[in-house]
Amino acid sequence: MHDSEANKILEIEDLHTYYGRSHIIQGLSMDVARLEAVSILGRNGVGKTTTLRSILGLTPARRGTIRINGDDTTRWPTHRVVRKGIGYVPAERNIFPGVSVEENLRLAAKPSADEDAWTMDKVYSHFPVLKARNRQDGSTLSGGEQQMLAIGRALMGNPIIMLLDEPSQGLAPLLVFEVIQPILLFCIQSGLTLLLVEQNHRMALKVASRHYLMGIKGKIGQTATSEELTADSEIIKKHLAV
Ligand SMILES: Nc1ncnc2c1ncn2[C@@H]1O[C@H](COP(=O)(O)OP(=O)(O)OP(=O)(O)O)[C@@H](O)[C@H]1O
Ligand SMILES: [Mg+2]
Repeated sequence: MHDSEANKILEIEDLHTYYGRSHIIQGLSMDVARLEAVSILGRNGVGKTTTLRSILGLTPARRGTIRINGDDTTRWPTHRVVRKGIGYVPAERNIFPGVSVEENLRLAAKPSADEDAWTMDKVYSHFPVLKARNRQDGSTLSGGEQQMLAIGRALMGNPIIMLLDEPSQGLAPLLVFEVIQPILLFCIQSGLTLLLVEQNHRMALKVASRHYLMGIKGKIGQTATSEELTADSEIIKKHLAV
């Protein structure tokens, strides 16, 4: 293994993913280095969620290679991929109904010996509203509270990389900038690697440092740093409906 490869948490080479006969992702390549925060930006329906589903083995790739921390996980079942250290915050949030906030967190816990490890108390210290509502059925939380619970739940697994599917979707801008963005920045500073899917480029540019601009068929039209995208807003206009 080369040094550069050893430093990669996620490597995708020539990914092809289908739903039945629909060929959705047609040759996607990308990578995320350890401690990096990377985004995939693209319009509705280009294949952002499908890419995350392929990484997780939920909609396995038909061709191409996915490597996580050096292992070829392309054909692995989801539970095995997750155990490798992936935290997933799905767009639908998928909070278990009939289960309290606290149980939602407890069910996801994967203890770690690391002194910075995520625990219930640490999640509550970042999201006091979850502590105040710890006995409430998680599925009855507000949209913003459910997003916090979904993020807290992913962190309880003490992942090495966290995949987030449009965490700002449907939330008030104030909540995005005062709650979601700060927790993601905290995660990056404390050594978590992030892959963030977004259409909200304002947040994505502040959280991630490198961006893949996805067009139809999951094709990456361009990669750019936050500085490059800030300097040239035309790139964003071309790839996002803004
Ligand atoms: N289960 C499925 N069966 C068939 N087609 C699907 C399925 N899920 C998604 N698709 C199609 O695959 C394409 C990519 O969908 P995907 O959900 O990955 O897009 P996206 O970039 O995440 O969009 P959005 O921003 O709206 O979430 C779309 O054309 C969609 O209709
Ligand atoms: Mg999606």
